[in-house]
Amino acid sequence: MSLAPRSSRAWWRDAVTYQIYIRSFADANGDGKGDVEGIRSRLPYLKALGVDAIWITPWYPSPQNDHGYDVADYMDIEPDYGTLDDAKHLIKEAHDLGIRVIVDIVPNHSSDQHPWFQEALAAEPGSPARERYIFRDGKGPNGDLPPNNWNAVFGGPAWHRITEKDGKPGQWFLHLFAIEQPDFNWENPEVREYFEGVLKFWLDIGVDGFRIDVAHGMIKADGLPDTPEKDSPEMLAAVSMPFWDQDGVHEIYRSWRKILDSYSGDRMAVAEAWVSPASRIARYLRHDELANSFNFDFLTSPWDVVTLRERIDSSLAAIKEVGAPASWVFNNHDVVRSVDRFALGLTPGSGETTLDRQGDPAKLDLNLGIKRARAGALLMLALPGGAYIYQGEELALPEVRDIPENRLTDPRWRMSNFTDRGRDGCRVPLPWKNDADGAFGFSSNAKLPPHEAWLPQSNWWGSFSVESQEKNNDSTLHLYRKALAIRASEEGLGDGPMTWIDLGKDLLAFTRPGNFLCVVNFGDEISLPSGEVLLSSAPLDRGRLPRDTAVWIRTS
Ligand code: GLC
Repeated sequence: MSLAPRSSRAWWRDAVTYQIYIRSFADANGDGKGDVEGIRSRLPYLKALGVDAIWITPWYPSPQNDHGYDVADYMDIEPDYGTLDDAKHLIKEAHDLGIRVIVDIVPNHSSDQHPWFQEALAAEPGSPARERYIFRDGKGPNGDLPPNNWNAVFGGPAWHRITEKDGKPGQWFLHLFAIEQPDFNWENPEVREYFEGVLKFWLDIGVDGFRIDVAHGMIKADGLPDTPEKDSPEMLAAVSMPFWDQDGVHEIYRSWRKILDSYSGDRMAVAEAWVSPASRIARYLRHDELANSFNFDFLTSPWDVVTLRERIDSSLAAIKEVGAPASWVFNNHDVVRSVDRFALGLTPGSGETTLDRQGDPAKLDLNLGIKRARAGALLMLALPGGAYIYQGEELALPEVRDIPENRLTDPRWRMSNFTDRGRDGCRVPLPWKNDADGAFGFSSNAKLPPHEAWLPQSNWWGSFSVESQEKNNDSTLHLYRKALAIRASEEGLGDGPMTWIDLGKDLLAFTRPGNFLCVVNFGDEISLPSGEVLLSSAPLDRGRLPRDTAVWIRTS
């Protein structure tokens, strides 16, 4: 397929999208939690950073059992975060600055506080209200065994038994995540219509697209058969699971694509589909389905030249078949930050215990992790397609490992029987200033101490702040700003062809149109290829490219 020039092709083929975890981004009302006005106040920062779009994690009314991924009302804004009018202003102001806005949609499950679920609890077994969720009778003579052997992603059984109106133990409902997140029944046309209405509601307000939560999870195999494995499932399961990546999900996306296409302005959707191999991801990206799907093969790759090369190649080959762009991603609010992963050799999803998931802090070489994360940024931003960066990635934030146990909030912590600390360590409120006032500038309340932000910030947090990094031309923040500026002006970057160059077994090297060369060195120092250095992720040592360093070069 030949590609139109960048200025005339759909924006989502090349976009760099910045993920905002709203609760931790910026707090304008001083309550220690981020909010919509906080995002608005930081739009100039995002503009100066040079991103094309923002993706805002769920901002809907929610009891916050899973920090917004338990939605109680899909068509309003969480009062702690602001109002619908605030959201409309934000979208308009972002658009005025040329920044697109993507919102999160959570269709696999609602909150147990959603009116539909409350109605279902009050209704009879077999009633239409119960049919919107997945209720089943239990097994065993008294129905006191769960309907099948499924476990929840956060730990423990995926079924919860309710008490019926007569006070007796009754049916069970399915929750693939927390108990407070009952799964919808997507076989029910009413659920489908409801979500079509939700999409239109936000499209009418002006959003440019959706990030689809658990996009591989909505359809369950007929008859809800037992899983082959008894452990809690990983989002990226090693074996086929009766609730992940079922063929039926594609019909939903075909109908959603029609809705998106009925609006002007290249509206899009990006799938959070933890599926592998790459050929399965490509199925979500067929021409009548979704625009983007996060490349989790890339995200779960260790800092290893062979694995990265293999995964880049297999991803590009698979999406070429369907004419879709790649969507590279190293970080999000669910995984240990790449600074730590790259230093410790962790691959998300590979372990069950905290130590496996987070690695041994005693072995963490932070400088090494930062060096690799910076090199990774130049790799990711030079590859064909779009990229997603997670707030704080541009500051090379490490995982926060010293949150006291009594402050952990992730449902994984309690559902794993307090064995898995979960994902709070990558969700700590951003440090904007180097002094501790207002939780390092996160909050407008200058009296808020760092430990009183909704997740406590560590005392070393300010050294990573935007303020500190702005003053230092070699900071990671400046590296991202420079990289994004170059990317914006290079016609050959973004979607389009790339060609591997063989410079040795420890190197990833490829060219892009316009005499652009990207080299990433995983091994011993080498001589720099000839040309003009546009940007490097670490200082170059007198014409040499050190280990764990990437460079962008204009060859002549
Ligand atoms: C997705 C979200 C995650 C959430 C889960 C359940 O994986 O990214 O944060 O806990 O879905 O909604």
